[in-house]
This record gives sequence, structure tokens and C-alpha cells, in this order.
Amino acid sequence: MEDSKHKLYIETYGCQMNVADSEVVVKILSEAGYDKTEMMEEADLILVNTCSVRENAEMRVRGRLNLFNQVKKKRPGLLIGVIGCMAERLKEKLVEEEKMVDIVVGPDAYRDLPRLVKVAGSGQKAINTLLSREETYADISPVRTDGNKISAFISIMRGCENMCAYCIVPYTRGAERSRNPQTIVEEAKKLVDNGFREITLLGQNVDSYKWTDGEIVNFPLLLEKVALVSPALRVRFATSHPKDMSDEVLYMMAKYPNICKSIHLPVQSGSTRLLGIMNRGYSREWYMNRINAIKTIVPECSVSTDIMVGFCGETEEDQQETMSLMMEVGYDFAFMFKYSERPNTYAARKMKDDVPEKVKVRRLNEVIALQNKLSEESKEKDLGKTYEVLVEGFSKKSKKDLSGRTSQNKVVVFPAENYKIGDYVMVRIERCTSATLIGVAIKL
Ligand code: SAH
Ligand code: SF4
Ligand code: F3S
Repeated sequence: MEDSKHKLYIETYGCQMNVADSEVVVKILSEAGYDKTEMMEEADLILVNTCSVRENAEMRVRGRLNLFNQVKKKRPGLLIGVIGCMAERLKEKLVEEEKMVDIVVGPDAYRDLPRLVKVAGSGQKAINTLLSREETYADISPVRTDGNKISAFISIMRGCENMCAYCIVPYTRGAERSRNPQTIVEEAKKLVDNGFREITLLGQNVDSYKWTDGEIVNFPLLLEKVALVSPALRVRFATSHPKDMSDEVLYMMAKYPNICKSIHLPVQSGSTRLLGIMNRGYSREWYMNRINAIKTIVPECSVSTDIMVGFCGETEEDQQETMSLMMEVGYDFAFMFKYSERPNTYAARKMKDDVPEKVKVRRLNEVIALQNKLSEESKEKDLGKTYEVLVEGFSKKSKKDLSGRTSQNKVVVFPAENYKIGDYVMVRIERCTSATLIGVAIKL
């Protein structure tokens, strides 16, 4: 008898929203008879959820496609699909350029996957890259097969309309739309019932979350609803946009102990001139005003950021301003990138990518070196203090140690004793390495 269950192997690249989307995709396909497998060699369908934000993100996916093609040679009938942002950006072109790709599905068309897989199975190319103004997958419970069963992502909105000059996201993700708050709260409740202890609310710009159908719910109110689900549930969120982050959000963070004291506030550049060219919608002074509001209203809050060097027209003075801003803020952590021109963005159409590669690399190395120093200082400040740590797993180095994070999102390793994954443990920090705080559990 033929086995009616098919096997799906899925790889995910790009941001946390893609991780959340892959869980939705697994759910949609499980209802169409596909079980997830971790072994690509036994798959009937390989999907790769992709990112277009920088050129190297796309290059990595092309590399993976070559590998999948090798598998396909040994397994005729295997279907290969590209989903997510690269699918949206390239559409039909993807099947022309990558001959082995059978299926191309954009981020708003995942409900159509079961049909598209059938079409592809009958030997035709299957493509759906329609963007939607409404789709939020609100009614689909994602299948959380990866990870530690302690933390989960919940998408609260999709799309972006900010049109930062360098950014591909508005083109690959379409219009901004918020998800029904009730479905978000229900998903959080279900996660708590299933033993989860931490959720991260996701959106490209969570501060502009807005639900207006029936009741009016803005982001601070949504945060409150989710924080009230259970005091044992940690609530995180990303990403905040400096132009929209309100004091109201900060007061809500201060009010609820289970809203984590950590904000990711991408600055991109410390130069007001460059921020204008980027169309970020704020100045250096505005950004610093937001940082000061964080430090006043939520003093124990950690702050992380994204920095991009080498954008069109960036001068040495701009670079110096970025570095001086980094020092002024004293970031706990940062993601740092070199500008990578993305086709059809405003910058690609109207501006010159005029910072030489060598200069981009040098500037990137400068900000990385500076951030390493700042991250170290941030950890040294924690020495001798006691933090509540949510245990997420074992230390990578030793099964005798557990690993978790503080509310401020810093990784802490400590001797396991009798503690287990999912516990909240008070840990006194005794030393640190470049990436980790090391401590011992203390009994209160
Ligand atoms: N919505 C978030 C960021 C989304 S993309 C925000 O507005 O802050 C994540 C990060 O990738 C950005 O913060 C930016 O630093 C970087 N990025 C985006 N486009 C890029 C490009 N063309 N080249 C290099 N880095 C880019
Ligand atoms: Fe891109 Fe700007 Fe939207 Fe962030 S806010 S996703 S950087 S356009
Ligand atoms: Fe990349 Fe798309 Fe996320 S371009 S950063 S995967 S929204």
C-alpha cells in the first residue's frame, strides 16, 4: 500500500518573521498530508524560506539550491520550492534562473501551497506571488517543531510601508496590516498551556500596530493584553522603530515585570544628514530623545540596534557620528551590516552606491570593534548582580551547565544542580566571556 503521508523538509533564512512564517507553512502543509522531516534525503518536498535584504542573503540560498538539486538527481519526483522574500522579489525569473525550482510562493500566498504542490506534482511550474492587503494567517496555529518549546514567536503584523531608501522589505512583504488582537492573545494562552514561557511579538515596526475593527488596540494596549495572559510568561517584541516608539510603550514595560526589559531600536546611522537620505524619518536628536526616555522610564532596560555603514554618500564625518552615537548610547548589542544595493529600491533607482567596497569593509570593521568593546562594558556592569534567568537549554559546552537569558536578553550560563529547562532561576553573575555571563544559582 502506498504511504499516504509525504515528507516535507524546510530550511529558513532571514529574519524572525520568516521563522514564524515557516511554522505557518508547516501547519498548512500538514493538513495537506505532509509531515515535517529533518532529513532532506527522505523528503518529497523541499522548501527554502528566503531573504532578500542583502545580496549575500540571496547568494546563500542559491548555494543551498545547488545542493537540493544534487538530492533531486537521486530522487526523481522530489519537488523543490522557493518561498518568502526572494520568491516575491524574483517571481517567474526564479524558475528561469534556477531550473530545478518547481514552486515559487510569496509571503502572502502560503494558503495556496497545497494546490501549488499538486500543480507542481503534475509537472507544471507552480507560482503564486500575489501580495495581499488583508492576509495575517490569524486563524492558523503555527506548528512549533523547532526550538526548545520554551520560547515562541507570534507575528502581530505583516508588511512595511516605511520606504527606507535602501530597503527591499516593503516590496517583498507588501502593505502593512495588523492582526486581530484576540487571535494573538489566544495564541499566547495556548502556548502557555503547552508549557511555553516566552513569546516574542513580531513585526517590522511593532509601534505602528493598530487594530480598529470593533475595539481600538494600539501596540501598548496589545502588550498589556499579552502580559496579562500569565505572569509566568515573558513577553518580548521586535522591531521598534525610533520614529514611532512612544512613551506609552515604555510605561507599559515599566508596569509589568513580565514584559522583558530589552528594546531593539535600529538606528542605522548616527548622522542626521544620512538618516535624511535614508528616509528614516528621524534625526540623531530625536533618536537620542527616545534613548533618554528609555533610560528614564525603564532604567534597567538594555538597548540593542542595527547599524548600516557605507550607504550612498556616506562620508568619514558620518562614520564618526555613527561611532560617537554608539558610544553615547552604550549599546548592549548590535547587528552591523555593509550597505548592499537592492534592485528597484529608491536608492538603487535614484542614488549612487558610491562608497568603495574597501571603505565599507573598513568602516564595518571599525563599528564592529567599537561594539565589541561596548558589549564587553555592558557585561562587566552585570558582574556581582543577581538576575532572574529563564532556562532555555543546556550550555553548548557542558551538560552540567544550563543556559538561559535575563530579562535584558543577555545569555547566562550556570551550574545545573537540580534546575531544569523552563525554570526561572535567580543567578548571581560572577564572571563573563565575550558572549556570555557566567554565574551561580542563589536560593532566596
Ligand atoms: N524593520 C526593521 C529592520 C528590518 S531589516 C527596521 O526598520 O529597523 C534588518 C536590518 O537589515 C535593518 O535594520 C538594516 O540595518 C539592514 N538592512 C536593510 N536593508 C539593507 C541593505 N540594503 N543593505 C544592508 N543592510 C540592510
Ligand atoms: Fe525596511 Fe525601513 Fe521597513 Fe525596516 S522600517 S523593514 S528598514 S523599510
Ligand atoms: Fe529578509 Fe524578508 Fe525578513 S527580506 S529580513 S526575510 S522580511
